[in-house]
Amino acid sequence: MANILCIGAGYVGGPTMAVIARNCPQHRVVVVDINQDRIAAWQSDDLPIYEPGLQEIVQIARNRNLFFSTDVDRNIAEADIIFVSVNTPTKTFGQGAGRAADLQYWEKTARQIVRNSTSAKVVVEKSTLPVRTAEAMERILNSNQKGLHFDVVSNPEFLAEGTAIRDMENPDRVLIGARETPSGQKAIQAIVDIYAHWVPQERIITTNLWSSELSKLVANAFLAQRISSINAIANLCEKTEADVTEVAHAIGLDGRIGPRFLRASIGFGGSCFRKDILNLVYLCEYYGLDEVGAYWEQVVEMNEYQQVRFVSKMVSAMFNTVAGKRIALFGAAFKAHTGDTRESPALAVCRALLEERAEVVLTDPYALENARTDLGAASSQVEFEPDPYAAARDAHAVAVLTEWPQFASLNYEAILDSMVQPAFIFDGRNILNHSELYELGFNVYAVGKPPLTNFPIAGSQ
Ligand code: NAD
Ligand code: UGA
Repeated sequence: MANILCIGAGYVGGPTMAVIARNCPQHRVVVVDINQDRIAAWQSDDLPIYEPGLQEIVQIARNRNLFFSTDVDRNIAEADIIFVSVNTPTKTFGQGAGRAADLQYWEKTARQIVRNSTSAKVVVEKSTLPVRTAEAMERILNSNQKGLHFDVVSNPEFLAEGTAIRDMENPDRVLIGARETPSGQKAIQAIVDIYAHWVPQERIITTNLWSSELSKLVANAFLAQRISSINAIANLCEKTEADVTEVAHAIGLDGRIGPRFLRASIGFGGSCFRKDILNLVYLCEYYGLDEVGAYWEQVVEMNEYQQVRFVSKMVSAMFNTVAGKRIALFGAAFKAHTGDTRESPALAVCRALLEERAEVVLTDPYALENARTDLGAASSQVEFEPDPYAAARDAHAVAVLTEWPQFASLNYEAILDSMVQPAFIFDGRNILNHSELYELGFNVYAVGKPPLTNFPIAGSQ
């Protein structure tokens, strides 16, 4: 039996530890956080995050071998293995502001571990960190006056929100890196042994510390790069009457390219892609590799352009003004099946439309509360409406901003009848049946496809 502790009960800490506890009933797993409300929510039936399948797993393991607590100090003292899963946002001040990772929460945690430890421990980096952070971690942990030895292991998390439980139960791979010393290898084995309870051995890969740390940033950069690449091509499709869905299908059938992550959209969101790429850019520049940094930075710039372009398209289609027009935004979450709105492109579009003085109404099945918080002062100008039909009533336009499947199966005939005519629909996720909407009488604008408009051609009557 091992005492496993996770510091940080967020989108990663909570679900990963729930899956470990469920699959390793012999281990005791505790998740701690300084945020009392979050811990109280983990202890209740109203979990702090929406994630399909999470509730069921938590209910199986909670109070059996899975515990949530705010007592960080005591639980550090009792732990054998400590996963650190605190937030590592982009730095907003000083050197590297806007790019480098803000490591203050991570460093506070490291110091807290040293202060409260009375025995040797394995400390696992679960948070996404700049390459070579483990070196600093080792220095802080092993400068203790108590003669205690700490091994630092990197075990980055690859789960995606909305499919977190599925991703962890059946991961493509688990990556574990450590020092190539006897004690480092023993530490790796301790972490391998945990995952081996449910992950096939061939999917558990071990590397040196730096490869593991860097692979996490690189995986996110490659995924985001595919989205920016297809979005760049979507813009060319709009100019040439090519259809980006057909192009993505055609290129994705090449086994070397593959079909996934080629959905053109209003751009990627979420708490990590932007932050991790900017962190990679910062690291490249730090090591004097300016051209390499500029290459990756373009992925983020393309993403920002995609959101600006979508709003410009809306304004220009709606006769160059949206001021005073009611516009229903379908979706606030950064992707489907999550309530998370961090870096959501939907909120970027929402803000841009407010600047154009549109009357914005936002609907989403799970993310309205987070959207209200994330929009801050701007939220007072937004109507939050859980019912998409009510949101669309008297609107000039509907814009689909999150790929929730339920938005594809609404009764668009009824929606059209309730809207101001001519009615516009902007599908920022390409999830609707565009020809059907066009037949109903909508003017339809998708991403990377020719528009379908019902306006009479001048001189034809
Ligand atoms: P989060 O903000 O949801 O959770 C982090 C938690 O850490 C917060 O609840 C915060 O209160 C807590 N915390 C901060 N300092 C603490 C301290 N000193 N002691 C105790 N608790 C403390 O963040 P997240 O989305 O779970 O991400 C965590 C890390 O995992 C980040 O590095 C992120 O890049 C990485 N990651 C995230 C995802 C994802 O899908 N969200 C996926 C893979 C990796
Ligand atoms: C992403 C990665 O997929 C995870 O492997 C990684 O662990 C995680 O970041 C992280 O480090 O935080 P996540 O951000 O939760 O996961 O969700 P994704 O499914 O990757 O989607 C990210 C964004 O890209 C969403 O806004 C989504 O709508 C958009 N997207 C995705 C597209 O626009 N097109 C696509 O083809 C795919």
